[in-house]
Amino acid sequence: MIPEPFRAAIIGGGRIADNNHIPALKALTGRVEVVAVCSRDQTKARALADRHNIPHAFSDAAAMYAVAAPNLVVICTPNKLHYPFALQALEQGCHVFCEKPPTLTAHEARHLADVAAGKGLMLGYNLQLRQTAEWQLFSRCKTEGRLGDLYHIKASFLRRRGIPGWGYFTNKEMQGGGALMDLGVHVLDLALLAFDYALPTQILGNTYDVIGKAGGKGLMGSWDPAQFGVEDACMAYLSFANKASIILSASFALNQQADIDRNLELFGSKGGVRLFPFVLHTELAGELADVHFPYLPDTDIQLKNTEAFVDACEGKASTVCTAEQGARLMQVVEQIYGQA
Ligand SMILES: NC(=O)c1ccc[n+]([C@@H]2O[C@H](COP(=O)([O-])OP(=O)(O)OC[C@H]3O[C@@H](n4cnc5c(N)ncnc54)[C@H](O)[C@@H]3O)[C@@H](O)[C@H]2O)c1
Repeated sequence: MIPEPFRAAIIGGGRIADNNHIPALKALTGRVEVVAVCSRDQTKARALADRHNIPHAFSDAAAMYAVAAPNLVVICTPNKLHYPFALQALEQGCHVFCEKPPTLTAHEARHLADVAAGKGLMLGYNLQLRQTAEWQLFSRCKTEGRLGDLYHIKASFLRRRGIPGWGYFTNKEMQGGGALMDLGVHVLDLALLAFDYALPTQILGNTYDVIGKAGGKGLMGSWDPAQFGVEDACMAYLSFANKASIILSASFALNQQADIDRNLELFGSKGGVRLFPFVLHTELAGELADVHFPYLPDTDIQLKNTEAFVDACEGKASTVCTAEQGARLMQVVEQIYGQA
């Protein structure tokens, strides 16, 4: 018997819902049917629903559950609302695919993981860099033993002057933090995944708000230095029980050359990888060699990550960031902030 498609609802009808999640869900015809949008403003929710040919639009989540009866909910609200909406969706018996960062605190993410496990529901987070062809290739190199034992990772997501001039990005109460919460979590997720999500035993971290508070030229709109309440940069060193280590750096603003520098370098006993563009540093025929992969596919990483989440809901093997990994990620993030 062919299973019924999931009845998906979106909570939070902003940019990421409109540009990423709804198109990805819509592409999974037969597996997912998008039944409702719920956003703060009813008129905007209706307009978004109409644009994507979605039957229901709400401004009240309780009404959405009562009328549209979804069994899969995608949370695309500002960070602070991830937790209450995810908890409500789980309590309503829905699988939950939530935007990053998972929550504002480690306690919230742990509680969500416990509730999801207790109810046998899937909770996953949209950390979609996992779906890049480069990360998939890294994973294969690791599994095939081409890297030997990994022992050090440099993970960075650095913008030169990318303090967003819109939304809540500089609002600590709504976002929970700045560059680390917004950008750093993407590369931290990959670095922790490379170490099988072991937790570090020691963390050193520093946060800065020098440029954010001083003001200046912006490349992503202009921001108000008087309202700047988050870190514009975060640098951290994570050390693990087996002496493995991660150097993590994230910035909205840093006086560096590149407008944007998002990369991971992963170093092992037999080989190393630079992720973007992918290069394998190794020894070949008795010589040092850099191996390039010019034919990597250009992947729709949102579609692949949404598909991975739906796979998980269907009980299939999946590469999506799990509730447990999300809880560990927030534990590390909280520890970095606690140190800084
Ligand atoms: N994975 C990624 O690469 C990525 C990229 C961008 C954004 N995000 C995440 O997605 C989330 C949303 O970001 P965005 O850029 O779409 O923001 P946005 O401001 O464009 O959209 C947020 C939406 O939530 C709605 N909203 C606010 N309060 C609400 C409430 N109480 N009930 C219902 N809806 C409410 C707003 O009306 C708005 O439509 C953030 O957590 C952000 O970190 C992730």
